[in-house]
Amino acid sequence: MCGIVGYIGPKEKKEIILDGLQELEYRGYDSAGMAVIEDHKLQNFKAVGKLVNLREKTKEYNSDGFGISIGHTRWATHGKPTELNAHPHLGKYSYVVHNGIIENYQELKQELSDEGFVFLSQTDTETIVHLFEKYHNSGLNSFDAFQKTIQRLEGAFAILLITEAQSDTIFFAKNGSPMLIGFDSNDVYFASSDTPIIGKAHEVCYLNDGEYGYARPGDVKLFDSNGSKEINKKPLVTNKAMAQKEGYRFFMEKEIYEQSTVVSDTMIGRASANGIKFEELSSLSLEGITSIKICACGTSYHAALASSYLFERLAKMRCSVEIASEFRYKEPLLDPDTLFITISQSGETADTLEALKMAKKAGLKSLTICNMDNSSIVRESDAAILTRAGIEKGVASTKAFATQMMVLWMLSLKFAKERGTISDEKFSEEITAMLQVPKSLIISDKLHGKITRLSKRYLHGHGFFYIGRDIFYPLALEGALKLKEISYLHAEGYPAGEMKHGPIALADAELFTIALMPQTSHYDKIKSNVEELSARDATILSISPLPFELADDFIQTDHATHPMLEFFEMMVVTQLLALEISIRLGNDVDMPRNLAKSVTVE
Ligand code: F6R
Repeated sequence: MCGIVGYIGPKEKKEIILDGLQELEYRGYDSAGMAVIEDHKLQNFKAVGKLVNLREKTKEYNSDGFGISIGHTRWATHGKPTELNAHPHLGKYSYVVHNGIIENYQELKQELSDEGFVFLSQTDTETIVHLFEKYHNSGLNSFDAFQKTIQRLEGAFAILLITEAQSDTIFFAKNGSPMLIGFDSNDVYFASSDTPIIGKAHEVCYLNDGEYGYARPGDVKLFDSNGSKEINKKPLVTNKAMAQKEGYRFFMEKEIYEQSTVVSDTMIGRASANGIKFEELSSLSLEGITSIKICACGTSYHAALASSYLFERLAKMRCSVEIASEFRYKEPLLDPDTLFITISQSGETADTLEALKMAKKAGLKSLTICNMDNSSIVRESDAAILTRAGIEKGVASTKAFATQMMVLWMLSLKFAKERGTISDEKFSEEITAMLQVPKSLIISDKLHGKITRLSKRYLHGHGFFYIGRDIFYPLALEGALKLKEISYLHAEGYPAGEMKHGPIALADAELFTIALMPQTSHYDKIKSNVEELSARDATILSISPLPFELADDFIQTDHATHPMLEFFEMMVVTQLLALEISIRLGNDVDMPRNLAKSVTVE
């Protein structure tokens, strides 16, 4: 996730770009930059850190004549947050800003380097501007060179490119990352979402994947693979708060819906039919490593717990999981043949960070799975895999968990392959299922509508038990945590087989059991556990692909070909259930009482 803004017109461009980027800062803020061409003169500014640093750097600069401008706020995917890696990226006479990931950038970079192009940054984005200049230098006009450039790109992108060779024009393209064009008489705006242009533009065109074109004052031309296209303009909404949530009632809701996209972003360049690849791990050797220990807190701990089943089952590596605050004071025995993994959305959780420091001190190799580049935990770790969930605004974590689970699944498969513990057939079955996950995370109106209707029956009672077995046990813990956090109702996650060892004493009609009943993982076992509860009059909400006659309520899931597909789908159901119950109770879903997004104290 990064944010992009562009403007063509006579107004003060610096302010339009900075104000626009301010609205998009939630999409990334490890560096920012802008480029302006005015009077054929190109100016470029970049600053590491939050936008305020770019404001400071440009405070003496004015740009109030006619000109073109592009700006970017960055969420690092390739390369550290440095000024050289900040956008816009420079060729000899052109600049580009980009949101997304160019999957084939290494191949393109090699080709361009062999031809003498010099790369200044570690980013995938820089290939775009050199590719453009390569084609332009070969005699193509600017638009043809741009068109040829984007034809070479694989992956997700939203791109704005400007060049001194045609200094009144912005070239644009969209494929998989958001981009829109705003119109106000002859002025033209670009942005990653509505908010930067509200109050400035009056009409908007939301670009579709595969569309590209060029814009000059009062003249925008749009194309796709079939040639030139009509521009479909709509009136622009005027409510900024609504626009930030893109029509969703809460950021948490928006983030639940984003999961299909961010999980797919997390897989780009890493998972394909050919296998699993993590460039980030090239310097981390598994030699001599025989086991894994994972430390984390809260939701990240639940991801860790679920992954321990995968590491042991697929990669045949002993895997122990500990809550970081417990690990710190138990005087743990640590062996150097253990890979120490931390998982953290924020990268700043104090207990997880301290656990990591202890492991390092004991000589363990460390790897973090984190959503925040340049965070303390990333800096402290030997290697880091970023989860690419984008900024998570809702305090209750949703999309970060989904991306953590995807990384952990990919990692367990990579280890399995390297250690020779998985057959080719099983490996390809896993990959086939994995590639279907983004689709399984798309939420239908029917499903959401059903959960909304059903939620009214779950507002009272004396407690919730979320139950599951195997990887669905950590998912039950996570489902219960989501409900607790935002509804303030008491909920517990439990291994289904453990209920009869005590908690079943609580069973009566006011005890709500949310039963995760996947078809592909121990269905008959969990069915018996739920029957035991039903016999004691507990109210049962079953989540399963298979109808269950003893269920008081039933939410039917679709994807029953692989346990992980069922896992991701059931994860969405539990998230939506917590959301809808919380909304009905009138709570502040995004900022629940007593909680904070980043827990930097012990
Ligand atoms: C739950 C939640 C918390 C965090 C926990 C760890 O919705 O957000 O339980 O998971 O505080 O935070 P990170 O992952 O940032 O280390």
